[in-house]
Amino acid sequence: MPAMEIRKGIYWVGVTDWNLQNFHGYALARRGTTYNAYLVLDDKTTLFDTVPVKFKWDLYHQIRSLVRLEEIDYIVVNHVEMDHSGALPFMVDKISPEKIFSSPMGEKSVHAHFHPSGWPLETVKDGQSISLGQRNVHFMETRMLHWPDSMFSYIPEEKLLISSDAFGQNIATSKIFDDQHDLNQLLREARHYYTNIILPYSPLVLKLLDRVMEAGLEIDMIAPDHGVIWRTHPEKILSAYQEFAEQKLKPKAVLVFDTMWGSTEKMVKAVADALQAEGIDVRVMSLKSFHHSDVMGEFSDGAALVCASPTHNNGMLPLMADFLTYMKGLKPRNRIGAALGSYGWSGEAPGAMAKILEEAGFELPQNPLRVQFVPNHEHLAECKKLGLALAEAIKNKVSK
Ligand code: FEO
Repeated sequence: MPAMEIRKGIYWVGVTDWNLQNFHGYALARRGTTYNAYLVLDDKTTLFDTVPVKFKWDLYHQIRSLVRLEEIDYIVVNHVEMDHSGALPFMVDKISPEKIFSSPMGEKSVHAHFHPSGWPLETVKDGQSISLGQRNVHFMETRMLHWPDSMFSYIPEEKLLISSDAFGQNIATSKIFDDQHDLNQLLREARHYYTNIILPYSPLVLKLLDRVMEAGLEIDMIAPDHGVIWRTHPEKILSAYQEFAEQKLKPKAVLVFDTMWGSTEKMVKAVADALQAEGIDVRVMSLKSFHHSDVMGEFSDGAALVCASPTHNNGMLPLMADFLTYMKGLKPRNRIGAALGSYGWSGEAPGAMAKILEEAGFELPQNPLRVQFVPNHEHLAECKKLGLALAEAIKNKVSK
């Protein structure tokens, strides 16, 4: 997509990655993403962030359609992860900037990534401002959103917040503004992104939102580093982030499973039937069909997670081990869990899954349930009993 003016004299100069399928473990099939960089034309013309190194020439041509690169004075590095800094050495070479601004942690990170020599790096502290001429840029450190180096750049004259990874979505689109999309669908994408990228840092998000409120920042536009720009509904994504970070739960259970010969799947369906009979919203997701990031997207507002795997070589099936590792790292809070599965002769999987759920802070109202080989009617009744107990625990949890 060509460079686009988002405010008078301020341009989106990013790159659309239409075909990206996997973003360090987060599946983007049918979504892709964008790497948003912004160019502010002012007395000190300034580039905010760059793009992955493989797109360095795309960024070059985006900027070149507006100005010659030597006309850029400043580069602001809001975040050093390679999707925003990979093209930085190339840009520094082409631009020869007067200054490169980053947070103190950002400067350390720039050194650790690029081992630069002679770059005009200058750190800006939390709360510090710089003048571009007609406009100022006010910096806010946002450590761990998404890395220790991350910061926001706020331009008060434009009421514009350039927010790095925060408030983003992984969507490849030629419609760059929020009002060009269905708002509910967009918020679902923002939730999916939040759950897979930002969820572990939810306590920091709550503190950050408080700081934004206390600072009384007037925000008319939020320009994140991924996905669409919030020009019409910035308040919607701010309030959505409050909700995501508080991890408000619904009476919903995600039943995630892998199965070898169908016995564990039968058990899962019996648990799902009991939950549904009690009015619980249910998602049944096979790990052979759904990527771990899509399961987590569904689980973002779910009160309960049921994990099911048969025993295989004295443990759980590998797809379940992968899922649980990913899920635990995202640190969902205040949830209910359950573990079950079929077995042939040793039967360790349900206990092993329950142990991981407990380590991740889940409450387990029922002991792990296992059935030898193929469940009969009585075994399925046991599964339904587990489902009923879970339904009760879910209702108690969401009513608090
Ligand atoms: Fe979009 Fe943390 O990088």
